[in-house]
Amino acid sequence: MLHSDLQFIKIRAKDFISYMGPLFQNKILVTGGCGFIGTNFIHLAFDRLPECRIINLDKLTYAGNPANLAEYEENSRYRLVNGDINDRQLVDRLFVEEKIDTVVHFAAESHVDRSITGPGEFIRTNIDGTFSLLEAARQAWIGQEQNQDGEGVTAKSYRFLHVSTDEVYGSLGATGYFTETTSYDPRSPYSASKAAADHLARAYFHTYGLPVMVTNCSNNYGPYQFPEKLIPLIINNALQGRELPVYGDGKNVRDWLFVTDHCQALLAVLEKGKAGETYNIGGNNEKQNITIVKTICDLVDEKIGQLENKEPRRSLIRFVKDRPGHDRRYAIDAGKIARKLGWQPQVSFDDGIRQTIDWYLENRPWMEAVIDGSYKEYYKKMYGNRGI
Ligand code: NAD
Ligand code: TYD
Repeated sequence: MLHSDLQFIKIRAKDFISYMGPLFQNKILVTGGCGFIGTNFIHLAFDRLPECRIINLDKLTYAGNPANLAEYEENSRYRLVNGDINDRQLVDRLFVEEKIDTVVHFAAESHVDRSITGPGEFIRTNIDGTFSLLEAARQAWIGQEQNQDGEGVTAKSYRFLHVSTDEVYGSLGATGYFTETTSYDPRSPYSASKAAADHLARAYFHTYGLPVMVTNCSNNYGPYQFPEKLIPLIINNALQGRELPVYGDGKNVRDWLFVTDHCQALLAVLEKGKAGETYNIGGNNEKQNITIVKTICDLVDEKIGQLENKEPRRSLIRFVKDRPGHDRRYAIDAGKIARKLGWQPQVSFDDGIRQTIDWYLENRPWMEAVIDGSYKEYYKKMYGNRGI
């Protein structure tokens, strides 16, 4: 037998073991599943967990696109519920009707710039909404009687995974990394609302024994990301030959992770993680914003040729007014999840950014559909007074 065949058998055996893992046949409530990461997670979950049932509760805000998951519309193992996580009656009904045993909580207002111009919705969805879900899970899984004696119940077969961000830790200088024990120091309404939600989630573990796990991940990129975030916005503008807005001096640093790697990490946490624990997830891939923008320019030039005026796309770069309170650097130490759960990122930035640009090139109708009238208004509001 060839060495490559042996390797194939080994990989299949590994897959089989993970199918037999604790998520086999689970009833998973995914919140915000029509957003960027939720969509990628649901695609991966259907691939990896062929007998699970997924209930996707999504308010379908500007960021939620049910077409991302259209292929499951007729699938008896998938149900899309158009609703708000703040609607307690609805959430309670779903827990009972669907016998939910696993929650993967993505639903959030997720864009820092929007949180600066309109923080209210961030408080409602990210804080109140998380509270609503935690209460619903407590009621469904732990029950009123057991709560009254103050004893926590470790409901072994249940899992509540609260998906959060590294932005709760604040801003780093030139050195250092965020670990799971770094003190919280959020600086934008977005990160402050996520920090509050993280604290609530952990409090429900300590106080009520709700089997909560929290993950704090660095910046994601990949297919299905709404073009308000840096990478898809720059790809979209580069494809259209529009100016490319870089905030401040362009030297802010983010740690970039391909979205499928994040989703793999979430599955690892669900399957092998310990209730009450926090796991940092990161790509070990720090880049300055300006480097990202130049890389995208060069790759788009390589793939579809230079601009009509024969200039390279780098000529579209514009340094614009900075974001207020702009965090300088984020960097994650993802050592714990590597040691405890054996997760490591698989996709290099070079591969991931190429895959991402290819996806946007192959899915132009997707982009055209999401940059409708309201996106144009958004763009004017955010960039109109920034000097471009
Ligand atoms: P997104 O903005 O693309 O999607 C959010 C989804 O939540 C949308 O489908 C939206 O319709 C839905 N939603 C919003 N309010 C809702 C409500 N009240 N009830 C039900 N659904 C609602 O976000 P994303 O980038 O996919 O991020 C998902 C989660 O991951 C968020 O909690 C975010 O904080 C976290 N996170 C994101 C990143 C990143 O780089 N994007 C990194 C780390 C953590
Ligand atoms: P973003 O994608 O909004 O993610 P976050 O703020 O959550 O890290 O922004 C990533 C970085 O890119 C951040 O430093 C801000 C910067 N940025 C720009 O320079 N220009 C832009 O048009 C956008 C949207 C972001």
